[in-house]
Amino acid sequence: MEYIEVLDQDDLKNDNHKVVKLKDREIILYKTGNNITAIGNKCLHKGGPLSEGKIEKKYDGIYITCPWHGWEYNLITGKAPPGYDEQQVVFDTILKNGKICISDQPIKFPFKSQHKVNPLQDLVDLKYETTSTSLNILGISTTNMNKLLPRKSTSDSALTEALDYAKDKYQANTVLIKISDLEFRNCEGYYSRSEMACTWPCSISEMDSNDGMNSIYRKMILWADIVLVSTPIRWGNASSLYYKMIERLNCVQNQITLNNKILVKNKVASFIITGGQDNIQNVAGQMMMFFSELGFALPPYSFMGWSRGWTAEDMEHNIKQFTKSRYIKRSIRDLIDNDIKLLHQIKTDPCININSTQPKISDAPTKVNY
Ligand code: FES
Repeated sequence: MEYIEVLDQDDLKNDNHKVVKLKDREIILYKTGNNITAIGNKCLHKGGPLSEGKIEKKYDGIYITCPWHGWEYNLITGKAPPGYDEQQVVFDTILKNGKICISDQPIKFPFKSQHKVNPLQDLVDLKYETTSTSLNILGISTTNMNKLLPRKSTSDSALTEALDYAKDKYQANTVLIKISDLEFRNCEGYYSRSEMACTWPCSISEMDSNDGMNSIYRKMILWADIVLVSTPIRWGNASSLYYKMIERLNCVQNQITLNNKILVKNKVASFIITGGQDNIQNVAGQMMMFFSELGFALPPYSFMGWSRGWTAEDMEHNIKQFTKSRYIKRSIRDLIDNDIKLLHQIKTDPCININSTQPKISDAPTKVNY
C-alpha cells in the first residue's frame, strides 16, 4: 500500500479535524492524543458534508453527526452507532518527516445497509395509480377544530358536498383527508442547509414511515386526478394546517429544481375558501400559485369562496346563512364540473413531456457566469 502526504503534522491540533483531498475524495483527518484517523467526508445517506457536523462523545466513542439529517459515524472506526450496520470508508494514516500521510487504498470500505422492504418504495418508484380513464378526487380539509367539541365547519361541509356531488354525478372515486387527523412533523428546513438535503421522498418520511404526510404524498402524487383543498380564512390567510402541509410539499417542487423531474403531471387542483370576513381572493391567489408551482393545472374559476364581509362579526349567523345560500350549492357544483371538464381535456391529450419555467439548480448564480 502506498501512502500519500496530505498535511503538515503541525496543522492538525489535538481534538480537531481537517478535511483533505485524496484524489477525488474528501477525507476527514481527526486527531485525538497520538491517534490520527481518516474517514470519508461524504455521508452515506445523501452525501452531506460530515466535516460540518457536530463532534461529541456519545455511545461508545467520539461521533460526528451529519449536518443534513443527523446520521452519525464513529470518527475513529467510521462505524455507525451501535445497532446500525453502516460503515464509512476508512484510510490508514502514518506520520513521515512531519507530514500526515494517508494510505492510497481504504482499510475499510463503505457499506450502506439496504432495507429488504422499503416502506416508501412506491414513492421512490413513483407508482402512479391514475389511468387514462380514472377519476380519482382527493379532498383535503385543512380546518382545525377541537374534535371533542365537534361543530359545523363551512369549509369542511362545502368540501364534503363537493365530493358527494362528484360521486353522484360522475361516479368519481373520492377520498377525504382531514389534515387535523394526521400526525406529522413540520418541515424542518433541510433545504436551507443545502438544496440537495431536501429529498424525495421527504427525509422526514424516511426517518418515520408512519409520518402522517405519507398518506398525503401517496394520495396526492400517486393516486389523485383532481385535488380539492378546503381552508378556512385565518387572519386573512389559509389555515396554519394548510401551511404546515404545503411546507412539507417542498420536496415535490424541489425535484424540479434539482433533477428537472416533475412529479405532478396531468392533474387538476381547485380550492374552497371560507371565512367570516373577507380576503378570499388573496388566499385563492396564494393557493393557486403554490399548486401551479407543483405542476397542477387549474380550471377557469378554480375556487369558490364564502365570506360575509368586513363587519360580519355576528358569527352565530354564519352557519345558518351558509347553509341557506344558493350560491354555495351552485358554486360547489360549478367547481366540480369545471375540474372534471378540464381533466377530460387533459386526458384526451396528456402531457408526456412538460417544461417547467422554474429556476433549476443549473441556473443558480454560482453555476452560471452572468
Ligand atoms: S444524514 Fe447525511 S446526508 Fe442525510
